[in-house]
Amino acid sequence: MPERHWIEELPQHAGATALVRGWVATTRSSGKIAFVVVRDGTGILQVVLSKKDVAADVWDAFGKLTHETSVEVSGVVRAEPRAPGGVELQASDLRIIGPSSDFPITPKEHGTAFLFEHRHLWLRSKQQVAIARVRHEVIQAIRDFFYERHFTLVDTPILTGSIGEHAGTLFSTEYFDLGKAFLAQTGQLYVEAAAAALGKVYCFGPTFRAEKSKTRRHLTEFWMVEPEVAWNDSAANMRLQEDFVAYVVRRCLERRKSDLVELGRDLAPLERVVPPFHRISYTDAVARLKELGADMEWGRDLGGDDETLLAKQYDRPVFVYNYPKAVKAFYMKENPDDPRTVLNNDCLAPEGYGEIIGGSQREDDYEKLRARIKAEGLPQEAYAWYLVLRKYATFVHAGFGLGVERTVAWICGIPHIREAIAFPRTLYRLWP
Ligand code: 4AD
Ligand code: MG
Repeated sequence: MPERHWIEELPQHAGATALVRGWVATTRSSGKIAFVVVRDGTGILQVVLSKKDVAADVWDAFGKLTHETSVEVSGVVRAEPRAPGGVELQASDLRIIGPSSDFPITPKEHGTAFLFEHRHLWLRSKQQVAIARVRHEVIQAIRDFFYERHFTLVDTPILTGSIGEHAGTLFSTEYFDLGKAFLAQTGQLYVEAAAAALGKVYCFGPTFRAEKSKTRRHLTEFWMVEPEVAWNDSAANMRLQEDFVAYVVRRCLERRKSDLVELGRDLAPLERVVPPFHRISYTDAVARLKELGADMEWGRDLGGDDETLLAKQYDRPVFVYNYPKAVKAFYMKENPDDPRTVLNNDCLAPEGYGEIIGGSQREDDYEKLRARIKAEGLPQEAYAWYLVLRKYATFVHAGFGLGVERTVAWICGIPHIREAIAFPRTLYRLWP
C-alpha cells in the first residue's frame, strides 16, 4: 500500500508512488486515456488513467465518477509542468468511496437563496474555499500582530449580565434564578478591567447583535477582536489601528495572493493600505458630506451611504473622529475641548465597505461615567463593577473593535459579509 499524501505534498514526491483521497471536480476521456481532476482541500491534482495499463474494474470505476464523488487513487507522481502544482498522478488504482449523484451545486448560476440553503455543500466551491482561506489568514494575522507586540489574550464571557453597546439589540436567555443573561455584544468592559492587570490585552470571539437590519454589512453573530491598552489616548489608539489594519492586509497579500486572484480581487487598492491613514473630524466630515450633496446634519450618526460617499474621497482607509456624544456609547470619554463630542473614532474601509472598526478613549472619570450610565437609563447595579474600575486607581485607556467579517469581505472584495463566515446568522437565517 503506497503512503497516503495530501495533494499539496506531492511536488516533493515526484517519481514515487502515492495514494490520495479527495473529491472529483471534473472528468474527461478520449476512450483510451482518462483524466480526473481531484481536489482534497489542499490542492487540485490531475489523475491520468490509461485503459491498457489499469485493471478493468478500475476503468469501470472511472465511468461511474460524477461531480463530487469521493475517491481514493494511487499511482506514480510524475512531474508535469503544465499541471496545477507541477505534478500529475499516473494512476494504477482508483476506488469510489462515496458516490454522489445530482450534486445540487452545479457550474450554472444559482440564486443566492438557493446557495445559502445549500451552504453546507456550497462551501466546497472554489470561491468559497478561497474566502475561507483568506478569513483564516486574517485571523492568524490578528493573533500574530498582538502576540508580536506582547499583548495578552483575555477570553471574556459570552453570557453576561451587563449591556455592552445598545440595549435595543440584545439576545437574552433565562439564567437560572438570576434573571436574564445576555449574549455578549462586546467583550470591551471586561478587557478594560484586564488592562489594569496586564497593560496590553485583547479579546477575540463571537459577538451577538439582535439587529433587525438587512444590509450587506450586518450579521446577528459576528467575530470581533478588541484590544485595550492602558495609557493610550485616542491619538495613540488610531496609530495602533492603522498599524494593525495595514499588517493584516499585507499578510493576506503576502500569503493568500492566489486566493485573492481566484476571487478576481483588484490588488492595487489593497497595496495602498499603508499608514498613515487619513483623518477627518466628524464635524469636518459633516461639512464635506454636505458639499458632496448628502442630506446630513451635525448631530446625526453617519449612515452606510454617508460612509461610502466619504470613504470614496480617499485612496486608503480614513478615520472619522470625535462624534457627537448623543449617537455613541456611554463609555466613550467626553472631549474636554468640545463636550458635545467624545474622543472616539470609526475606521472606514475604502471601496464602499464602510466601518470596519469602532474605537475610543474610555471615560476614566468616576462621576462623569456614573452620570452617563444614569442618563442612558442603564441598570446601575449591573455596571457597579465597571464603574468601580475608576475608583481604584483610574487610568487613561483606549481600545477598539474590528469586525472580522467586514474586514474579510473588504479584503476579498465580495459584496456581502454573509459569505465571509462559514455559516452566517442573519435576520432570516438560522440554518444550516
Ligand atoms: O462599533 P462597534 O459596535 O464597537 C464595539 O462593539 C466596541 N465595544 C469596540 C471596542 O471599542 N472595544 O463594533 C465594532 C465593529 C464594527 O466596526 C464592525 O466592524 C463590527 O464590529 N460590527 C459588525 N459586524 C457584523 N455585523 C454586525 N451587526 C456588526 N456590528 C458591529
Ligand atoms: Mg460602530
